[in-house]
Amino acid sequence: MTFTPRFPAFLHGGDYNPDQWLDRPDILDKDVELMRKAHVNCVSIGIFSWARLEPAEGVYDFAWLDEVIDRLWKGGIHVILATPSGARPAWMAQKYPEVLRVNDRYQRYHFGGRHNHCLTSPVYRRKVREMDTRLAERYANHPAVILWHLSNEMSGECHCELCQEKWRDWLKDKYGTLDKLNDAWWTSFWAHRYTDWSQVEAPGNMAETSTNGMYIDWRRFNTWQCKTFMMAERDAVKAVNPELKVTANLMERFWDYDYFDLCEEMDVVSWDSYPLWHSGDDVARAAEFAMNHDMMRSFKDQPFLLMESTPSQVNWKPVNKLKRPGMHLLSSMQALAHGSQSVLYFQWRKGRGAAEQFHGAVVDHDGRDDTRVFRDVTQVGKALEALMPIYDREKQPAQACIIYDWSNWWAIDYAQTGQAKNMKYFDSVNMHYRSLWQLGVNVDFRDTRACTDLSRYKLVICPMLFMMNEAFTQKLRDYVAHGGTVLVTYFSGVVDEHGLAWLGGAPHNLIDVLGVRGTELDALFPEDEQALVMADGRCFKVSELCEIPEMHGAATLGTYGEDFYAGMACLTKNAFGQGQAYYLAAKVEQAGLDAIYAAIAGELSLKCALTDTLPHGVIATERGGAVFLQNYSGQRQQVTLADAYTDLITGKAVSGSFELEVNGVLVLTKAS
Ligand code: GAL
Repeated sequence: MTFTPRFPAFLHGGDYNPDQWLDRPDILDKDVELMRKAHVNCVSIGIFSWARLEPAEGVYDFAWLDEVIDRLWKGGIHVILATPSGARPAWMAQKYPEVLRVNDRYQRYHFGGRHNHCLTSPVYRRKVREMDTRLAERYANHPAVILWHLSNEMSGECHCELCQEKWRDWLKDKYGTLDKLNDAWWTSFWAHRYTDWSQVEAPGNMAETSTNGMYIDWRRFNTWQCKTFMMAERDAVKAVNPELKVTANLMERFWDYDYFDLCEEMDVVSWDSYPLWHSGDDVARAAEFAMNHDMMRSFKDQPFLLMESTPSQVNWKPVNKLKRPGMHLLSSMQALAHGSQSVLYFQWRKGRGAAEQFHGAVVDHDGRDDTRVFRDVTQVGKALEALMPIYDREKQPAQACIIYDWSNWWAIDYAQTGQAKNMKYFDSVNMHYRSLWQLGVNVDFRDTRACTDLSRYKLVICPMLFMMNEAFTQKLRDYVAHGGTVLVTYFSGVVDEHGLAWLGGAPHNLIDVLGVRGTELDALFPEDEQALVMADGRCFKVSELCEIPEMHGAATLGTYGEDFYAGMACLTKNAFGQGQAYYLAAKVEQAGLDAIYAAIAGELSLKCALTDTLPHGVIATERGGAVFLQNYSGQRQQVTLADAYTDLITGKAVSGSFELEVNGVLVLTKAS
């Protein structure tokens, strides 16, 4: 699959800010020469260019951009063209203060920063449409331009009067009557009942902070606001050339908006990946970012683009470590292994001033091409060319699926369970994912929307699926009844889609499927001792959260080892219809999850990238029939493979027993 028919190739390059260098044509010329040298084939431009494109209201200047694009095109460099709505010019903020965001203390921000516009403001939406239309009319048919980059890292919320009005309209649409809203939000509590729509305000520090149902809706509303903003931009540029696809760059662990929902309206998912390597356990970090990549692929069930990554270091983490030798190629290949069609960077050239003056770049202030970073980048460019045989070959369909749901995430975080510190939804899910990733099993992510189809999976995992709507519980029942295998954990099926507790026991509608009912949820201090004791005597540490189950027919595979619930079930399995359902009642350490999933993967014969046993921290990931063999262990590792392969990156034969260097990566195809 290609998103860029004008240039069907792995994209290599990234954010380029020629508008910071318009008085230095020598540097702009040099840029193209260096790009070619670094095997860069594509750059993203115009992301923050509004002040140059429209220096005064209604006065447009595209001459510089014409020149930049032509210069790039002549040099064989393609362009991802951005709409500049991520930051607006000072004149606009001064003349139309409504474009500026208002915080939840009702203070309007002044001009400055970026990503801080009001999503409702009709003035801003009009100005953005006018700008996008002009850009599209001028460039959407330029042969160099291969993709639209809408805005930048959309985020946040606004509490201005216009947004409050929109929020009420959205609620009216959703609930129809105030009674329904009052019921959904349980407003009889603390005399919160509304008697007129005009009384409803957005939640926030100066207003409502205790109604979790309201907060969850507020997040859904903000997702919708962002979605309609993005759709308006999409429609403006596509009106000129409907063939040119659009993306909007997403972020890791992004909580503000529901990405499954948002992505419905973009053609291509892209994201910005900034792992903090070499700060402890790189294997854990790699598992986290593998999950991020797989989520991005899952949002639209298609390949994605790595829109930003750093060629060396960032400048905004507490400690900004350089990538150690090999890590640039390894982390770039990781993105490909999970379905990326690109390796793109922030940024091509370091600016002389402002906030990103010291952010890593392909070209440093010294302008040289004989640096370690430049060589690393060139190596990735060459590798991407060598990997073209797998460009349009996607990952084999996943047989395992993890349910990750944004409303559930918000519901967990807003619910005042008294255990907030121990919840850690993303990290807990990541532990389940990691077990399968280590086994080389491809994994999809799905959420609880009506469109989710579970029937294609052999295994469905629901970690901490606290919020379950009725239809989804029915889907799970049917899935198991028809032969599927499900694993559900503690703290699942507790509330409905409004965040209201299900009555009659949890997991709602699944007690007979699981053969178990969750009762009390215990929270542990770090020094507390608890364990999962398996039937064969193996013992795994349990921490943070333990649910005490009541048995309804399931078989016990493991029990609690300590405290007043010692001997009670911690891991169970139940036959239901033609399928089976596991229940894991507590947060078990990684080694315990690894053991559980190794057994399940064996039982279900889940496809693995390699069947060879690999050393700790050496990971095999399949994409397009090739196996990406990655070493995150921080040590040289001795690997033994049963079959003979060719490494697509170097063209070398690989077989038998060999050493994989620190941060080493091979892309293996079966030798013919
Ligand atoms: C991203 C952003 C870029 C740049 C980069 C620095 O979040 O989209 O514009 O600021 O971070 O790492």
